[in-house]
Amino acid sequence: MNHHHVLSANQFTAPELLAFFQTTKALLEKSPQGHSALTHNLTEKPPLAVAAAFYENSTRTRMSFIQAAQQAGFPVLDLNVATSSVQKGETVLDTMETLAALGAGTIVLRHSQDGLHGEVARYLDAEWPHVRLINAGEGTTHHPTQALADAYTLWTLQGGSYKEKLATFKEMRILIVGDSRKSRVARSTTTVFKTLGATVSLCGPVEWLPNLEDPVFVGCQRHTVLNDALSGVDAIMTLRVQTERGSGVTDAWIAAYQLTPERLQKTKKTPESLPAWVLHPGPVNWGVELHPQFRFGQSHKGQVVNPTQTVLIRQQVAHGVAVRQVLLQGV
Ligand code: CP
Repeated sequence: MNHHHVLSANQFTAPELLAFFQTTKALLEKSPQGHSALTHNLTEKPPLAVAAAFYENSTRTRMSFIQAAQQAGFPVLDLNVATSSVQKGETVLDTMETLAALGAGTIVLRHSQDGLHGEVARYLDAEWPHVRLINAGEGTTHHPTQALADAYTLWTLQGGSYKEKLATFKEMRILIVGDSRKSRVARSTTTVFKTLGATVSLCGPVEWLPNLEDPVFVGCQRHTVLNDALSGVDAIMTLRVQTERGSGVTDAWIAAYQLTPERLQKTKKTPESLPAWVLHPGPVNWGVELHPQFRFGQSHKGQVVNPTQTVLIRQQVAHGVAVRQVLLQGV
């Protein structure tokens, strides 16, 4: 998947995604921690640096890009926005210019402003055409590398050949619960899952649901009652309530939309089968969108809720390193 810039989940085709997942698997098989398998040949001239420029807070995305860059043998330029000249009024384009002049070959950018990444990409194309931009989160619109980690996580659960895996995605029903109107994760994961042929439904209070005429969500279903949305679902992605973007949560919201062990049981296709896979991009508001027992796998009212059974949050985080390493390597 040799894209110069990685700006949006909609730039990937289904064959590209499946080949990318195969490359990620090969990386992890050669070296579970990722390093060495795709490391630069350091006898050649030193690789250009990977610069992490995070203007919004992050744990997973920032750390996984740094981990991935280090494992692949790239020097890392880690911009600390809070102590940088951003605080003296330096513009984003001037900071990108500086990172490129310092030797960045890839800039990994997170910023709250929708549309900024496109502007930065155009600037780099004009001034530093060899420098790549990877979108690590853009306002409410894009988080493509999270979508890759999430889809790769579900891909790893499927057996069979390329064709069989694609057929499995085409049969898959994915439910996204929560603040999908303001969620860049909802937009990017919906895009990738739809590209792979999955059916995506969205659930939440009507004012939190996106318009289905929005091209990202065309063909999706909307539900306002969680209990009505669970039957036959293969995977549920719960979203963090976006309090920093003005979403408030009440006891009534929690009662209506929290994924609980009891609700998860409603996704079972037969009494013997496992319930749906549970994903969350993190960070989780435990006790809000997800019941705390999904964290620890304790028994609840006599039912064992074993997170290692269908909760995939740790896998999403770990796979985030591998998919980002493959992207950084551009293979
Ligand atoms: N999922 C995600 O983007 O998490 P961080 O904000 O911690 O990077």
